[in-house]
Amino acid sequence: MSSRIAVVGTGYVGLTTGACLSHLGHDVVCLDVDEEKVQALQGGHVPILEDGLDRLVVEGLHTDKLSFTTDVTRAIPGREFVFLCLPTPQAEDGSADLSYVEKACSQITDHLDSGAVVINKSTVPVGTTALVAAALGRYDIHVVSNPEFLRQGTAVHDFLNPDRIVIGADDRDVALRVASLYLDLAAPWVVTDPASSELIKYVANSFLATKLSFVNSVAAVAEAVGADVEDVIQGVGHDRRIGHAFLQPGPGWGGSCLPKDTSALAHIAESAGYEFGLLRSAMEVNVAQFERVVAKVEDLVGDLKGKRIAVWGLTFKANTDDLRDSPALKIVSLLLKRGAEVRAYDPGIDPGRSVMDGLLVVPEMFDATEGADALVVLTEWSQFRRADVERLQESLARSNVVDARNLLDLDALARRGFAVRSIGRR
Ligand SMILES: NC(=O)c1ccc[n+]([C@@H]2O[C@H](COP(=O)([O-])OP(=O)(O)OC[C@H]3O[C@@H](n4cnc5c(N)ncnc54)[C@H](O)[C@@H]3O)[C@@H](O)[C@H]2O)c1
Repeated sequence: MSSRIAVVGTGYVGLTTGACLSHLGHDVVCLDVDEEKVQALQGGHVPILEDGLDRLVVEGLHTDKLSFTTDVTRAIPGREFVFLCLPTPQAEDGSADLSYVEKACSQITDHLDSGAVVINKSTVPVGTTALVAAALGRYDIHVVSNPEFLRQGTAVHDFLNPDRIVIGADDRDVALRVASLYLDLAAPWVVTDPASSELIKYVANSFLATKLSFVNSVAAVAEAVGADVEDVIQGVGHDRRIGHAFLQPGPGWGGSCLPKDTSALAHIAESAGYEFGLLRSAMEVNVAQFERVVAKVEDLVGDLKGKRIAVWGLTFKANTDDLRDSPALKIVSLLLKRGAEVRAYDPGIDPGRSVMDGLLVVPEMFDATEGADALVVLTEWSQFRRADVERLQESLARSNVVDARNLLDLDALARRGFAVRSIGRR
């Protein structure tokens, strides 16, 4: 059954939600305040790198099932369901900043049809469903929590093949109406109250972040005792109680979600009287991991002042162009602070893009390594894994590599006499 849907906020989550729901046969209009973005989307140009999203946007425009606007009076009236996909960045005290959500509520409230269901897909603290209802100030509107679990880089796939669909509502019939939007997706539903639904999203991201910090700590132990972390992970991950996912050591975790969501959960817990020490430790381990990567570079080249360092990868993960809270940028910033000259290459980042003061972004991977004292691999793009080792050696001034993603072939590098530091590998 086709429903009339509006999506407020057309970023990574909103655009994926809008395009996928139109693909499932619903009639969707996406509303955003960013005129440039809306104009691009009206012309079928997707401003973000996300596999398969451009195809769905073009399909939706072609079938007239998907449209884009900045006009709230066009977007909201006549819509049975209104999704909120707005930013919830980290506030100074570590809590989630709800000002975008509140502002959008004030903009849409006068235009909502009586009986409409407002569905919050933004990641928000416990109590926000009630806060949205209060901000709307309409007693003829339903508000439901429906957190999103997609991963950037595979957002379309994840939206259409979710592990579960979580819906939090005070009224079960309204929850089931929201669930009906996803009838074509084969996924279990978890229908619960709004507080539990809101908490589920934070718990999921905090658990994943903790798992990553745990494995980075295990990698540090492996280095100290002469074990190989990759073999340790194999041995542990086959245990079905543990699994292999998110058990990959790296330069530290980042992106637009894990840092702000762990911080928000720690803040929620503290405000409720519980000191979430385990989560705080996971966050501290992560900050220390950025430093550990820089220490590995220093171990190879000595004092960084005046040294030329090549960086492969700036985005927080491969197959996205998103730099928000990227661990690579934290590490580059530390390298620059210690006086290194840094040249970076990333397949998702236009060399013209101004990323950080003092950082030169170059168009090719071997432009970055030319004459460098060391290469540091910070994002797991597959083209780095396949890099020609001979060419790499020819371009570098010194055969030093810090592989913070455990991506490169250690044996191939060793055969050519490279000095290599990775994360917990022997
Ligand atoms: N990015 C992810 O991987 C991901 C995954 C799951 C959940 N989330 C959560 O989803 C929410 C959105 O994240 P995102 O990454 O899509 O953010 P984003 O910054 O990519 O997109 C937000 C969009 O909202 C628009 N916007 C801001 N104020 C508006 C207003 N008043 N009216 C209309 N549009 C407005 C912005 O212009 C922007 O296009 C956040 O709460 C985030 O934590 C993100």
